[in-house]
Amino acid sequence: MAVNGDDAVTRFLPYASWQSLADAEAWHDRVLAYQKNGDTFQFVITLPDGTPIGTCLLFKLVEASARAELGYALARAHWGSGLMYEAIHAFVDRIFQDLPLHRLEAEIDPRNAGSARLLEKLGFVREGLLRDRWRNKGETTDAALYGLLRPDWEARPA
Ligand SMILES: CC(C)(COP(=O)(O)OP(=O)(O)OC[C@H]1O[C@@H](n2cnc3c(N)ncnc32)[C@H](O)[C@@H]1OP(=O)(O)O)[C@@H](O)C(=O)NCCC(=O)NCCS
Repeated sequence: MAVNGDDAVTRFLPYASWQSLADAEAWHDRVLAYQKNGDTFQFVITLPDGTPIGTCLLFKLVEASARAELGYALARAHWGSGLMYEAIHAFVDRIFQDLPLHRLEAEIDPRNAGSARLLEKLGFVREGLLRDRWRNKGETTDAALYGLLRPDWEARPA
């Protein structure tokens, strides 16, 4: 709730802010069902004391094309602290270690400056703009498509 119950966090995400624990439980059940299909994995980001402060998600995994999509959200109190860079860097490392994927993608609202900067810092390349791609919270919005290839990740300096 501390993450997904905040309108500032869900501003560019394709769902309404959670209003109650029932919304959280419904999402939890959906994710467990997706995980059973093997095309989605969601993790919780915690502080060292175990307090949950965000999530990172691998979804739309298409084994035949060796690709999947990334998603992430962090509680507003922690924005700008470098934590999501640290989390997604570790997540991408682990994904390329454990899964035979060649390409990771992210689709973001181009107005989401924090998300764009995070992806660019990680080495994702902005590959295109999909016009009027989403209908979200009463708006029709564009989507910027970002991609990261395994060889580019492996060639990055440590
Ligand atoms: C997008 C989000 C995950 C960024 O997390 P964060 O922890 O603030 O990111 P970091 O602190 O690791 O910063 C990564 C880079 O982005 C920059 N950045 C972060 N927020 C920014 C903003 N609002 N505008 C411009 N740059 C921003 C940081 O300065 C840093 O770049 P730098 O090292 O060159 O200074 C966070 O804002 C969030 O959870 N937003 C709501 C959910 C969301 O939109 N998720 C993405 C959906 S596609």
